[in-house]
Amino acid sequence: MKLFVSEGNPHCLKVLAALEETGVQCDVQCVNHEEKVVPFLSHPALPALLLPSGQHLFSSDAICRYMFEVSGQESSELCNQWLEWEATDFQPALLQALHMAVLQGKGSEVPKVLQGPLNYLDQRLSKGITPYLTGEVVSVADIVLWAALYPVFSDSSLSLGEHKFVRAWFDRVTGMRSCKSAAQKVLQGKGLQGMKSYMQRQPAPQSSQCRDTHPCNSSPAESDEGERVVSEEEMGAAALAWNKGLNTCPFTTDRQHPILPQEGKRNILVTSALPYVNNVPHLGNIIGCVLSADVFSRYGRLRDWNLLFVCGTDEYGTATENKAREEGLTPQQICDKYHAIHSSIYKWFQIDFDFFGRTTTEKQTQISQNIFWRLHERGFLIEETVEQLRCENCKCFLADRFVEGTCPHCSYPEARGDQCDKCGRLINAVELGEPQCKVCRQTPVIRSSRHLFLDLPKLEAQLEQWLDKSTSAGDWTANAKQITRSWLRDGLKPRCITRDLRWGTPVPHPDFKEKVFYVWFDAPIGYLSITANYTDKWEKWWKNPHQVELYNFMAKDNVPFHSVVFPCSLLGAQDNYTLVNHLVATEYLNYEDTKFSKSRGVGVFGDMAKDTGIPSDVWRFYLLYLRPEGQDSAFSWADMAMKNNSELLNNLGNFINRAGMFVTKFFDGCVPAMELQQEDKKVLALVGWELQQYIQLMDKVKIRDALKHILNISRHGNQYIQVNEPWKKIKGGDAERLRAGTVTGVSVNVACLLSVMLFPYMPTVSQTIRDQFNAPNSCMNTMLQGTGTFVCVLSAGHRIGTVSPLFQKLEVDQIEALKKKFGGQQMTAQSAASTQSATMPAPAVAAEVAAVNGVDPEKAKQLTQAVAEQGDKVRVLKAQKAEKAVITAEVAQLLDLKKQLALAEGKSPEPAPQKGKKK
Ligand code: 2FM
Ligand code: ZN
Repeated sequence: MKLFVSEGNPHCLKVLAALEETGVQCDVQCVNHEEKVVPFLSHPALPALLLPSGQHLFSSDAICRYMFEVSGQESSELCNQWLEWEATDFQPALLQALHMAVLQGKGSEVPKVLQGPLNYLDQRLSKGITPYLTGEVVSVADIVLWAALYPVFSDSSLSLGEHKFVRAWFDRVTGMRSCKSAAQKVLQGKGLQGMKSYMQRQPAPQSSQCRDTHPCNSSPAESDEGERVVSEEEMGAAALAWNKGLNTCPFTTDRQHPILPQEGKRNILVTSALPYVNNVPHLGNIIGCVLSADVFSRYGRLRDWNLLFVCGTDEYGTATENKAREEGLTPQQICDKYHAIHSSIYKWFQIDFDFFGRTTTEKQTQISQNIFWRLHERGFLIEETVEQLRCENCKCFLADRFVEGTCPHCSYPEARGDQCDKCGRLINAVELGEPQCKVCRQTPVIRSSRHLFLDLPKLEAQLEQWLDKSTSAGDWTANAKQITRSWLRDGLKPRCITRDLRWGTPVPHPDFKEKVFYVWFDAPIGYLSITANYTDKWEKWWKNPHQVELYNFMAKDNVPFHSVVFPCSLLGAQDNYTLVNHLVATEYLNYEDTKFSKSRGVGVFGDMAKDTGIPSDVWRFYLLYLRPEGQDSAFSWADMAMKNNSELLNNLGNFINRAGMFVTKFFDGCVPAMELQQEDKKVLALVGWELQQYIQLMDKVKIRDALKHILNISRHGNQYIQVNEPWKKIKGGDAERLRAGTVTGVSVNVACLLSVMLFPYMPTVSQTIRDQFNAPNSCMNTMLQGTGTFVCVLSAGHRIGTVSPLFQKLEVDQIEALKKKFGGQQMTAQSAASTQSATMPAPAVAAEVAAVNGVDPEKAKQLTQAVAEQGDKVRVLKAQKAEKAVITAEVAQLLDLKKQLALAEGKSPEPAPQKGKKK
């Protein structure tokens, strides 16, 4: 092996440090910057590693990774995440910083450019407990990041600010012999100035704005300019595939119900966490569960998997009882009302369930009682007396979610009775410090009662054995694995599965007649009962682990129930149940500069999205673009407008529209004859590669990452059109006109491919494109082949339909108005205090969030409405003689709304009464 490096090239720092650290045997040759060591590249690429096979690696990250692998150190998932972050987030900022510091003499502006990534790194390191990024020993991630940081971090003139944790880690790595020696070789003690001659030969970096719209600008096979290098063989193969054509059996979107597992097919069962019925879901709920599952299901159907997607509302529990009391309805009426609200929201978002059911059904009772008895007969249930919190004022035992207090683990003051939002640990409500009833804010008392527990310790060994298999064979997200691991590390304890409530599935045991099942015992059984309401043959899905692969989609707070508690119920019941194979959990989506919160009512809720005038597909696109995959992300109105305008309008829509317009204008609406040249074959290869990446990522449920490859394709397409200028060539001689035809024909086929790849994300846009191009249904068969090939589906002579623009610009004032309407700012302390109620209706929330200080007629109008609604509510409660505490709470809310209304009208508000005021 031979490694080519050059002096002053920061990428060479990485590979030399990796080489010394791993001790891999390899000659090192130092050449000058201009030397072409990789014969088929049009420009020099250094560093480069010549492999024994004669091939070259010419991405510094790939070389580093290779060296660690050769020395027996496979990179872990965490390590890969760091490498990805370094390449996609850190490098662009760093390049810009180096350009400023070395060439422009603007060292003083460097801290600003690097602040974001450095803060992020500091924050991540501050949470770690190991000396290195991924553990106790140095990994390739440490080397790569250290080398990237070295030129700027070792230069004291740059005053990068205090990043305590980064500094400590950096010093630790800098002290290693391998790193010291690499730094000396590359920079020769000259610091940043040692890089000048190298930097002068580099293209100027893009501004950060521009970079934002190029999300996938680095992958192992990319050259320094960010363009993937395509070999002759790849081009040849792409051209061959192009002519092959597709399987012509028509794709059908009409499914034959009931869908049941079939011999010889991939039988995929998809569930998304069952949303609580008593709330209107917010955007964070939608992306975490139903939307992610929908995209994957739509993709699976394109792959011709035999797939069933079920979901439904989670209807039992105290939250429903309370909501019913509050709205003056019976729990069943509340469930009916909100089930309909959920259904209509998901319909608007085009969530294509095969069946959307609910948990308050006869089947639910049958199946959960059956599982209960089987667990009982097999000795997996134990009886114990428990101490419970009871609110004497409200005359009821307090469900976990209705008590709040200080977390016994991390001292967070607003922990719920079942789980702490800060540290994520599960809590036993009686362990809370200073508990408060969330309804009336009184201090509850401790009372004892007999309950049944699922004996998790007894099932632990069996669970671990299954988990080992499932997590290694399936696609579990990193957070799902990690949360599960930490649960097991703490050791399992028996979990109570009964509750002193009325609204739930009755416990069939005669000694526990007055009790119902705890919602978290019951709810996951909802997946089974919902399927049973869909088909009598439900057991073919749920008692068939050998034929069925189960995907569970959820947000990360649901993980332990799906990976530990529910599997234990099913394992203990010993009835050959299908257990989860792929547990797909998202992180959290935040809202602007604050948190989406069901209980605090902050953010855009599902039913409001349609009132924005922004199409459902655009909402889907933006939520999926932001999907909190691997880390939290945040919804922002301004960013939504920017992504719409740059990615959808200028990139994707522009390309598809141009391709169609060329066919219409230059070729009378008929796809022209095509004769492929090198240039065309290259674009076929580029597009084919992106398609393959998309398929690989989608197969692994990396939904957000896969979307970026769609956008890469239209970027390639735009560039291809731009370089080849068909609008000029069409005016030339025969040869030139043929070129114009070929470029147009290839482009419109790329656009058609895009419509298929978009189908899981933007179903309406996908259909519109296919309608405009008059595309045969068989184009949907593109994903049938294993790895994905890009073939010509609109061949010469095909007549397309009428082409029109796909997207609309989102204007600044439009977005500003929406932001104002739905509340983009952190709420004021005063308004936050009055939204503590877990049950505040969405319209009131929107009105309240919008109420910032100052006269505002629009706000005043909304608040007048909110006051009227709240007044009605209070009158209804009084007429029904509802409990005093409930009325007091609602009255307090009414007074608060009135106060805000006064402010919005420019009047001086009456001082708010202290009595009954929440917190
Ligand atoms: O967190 C939630 O919204 C729960 N209703 C999810 C239940 S998932 C399944 F177990 F039903
Ligand atoms: Zn109370």
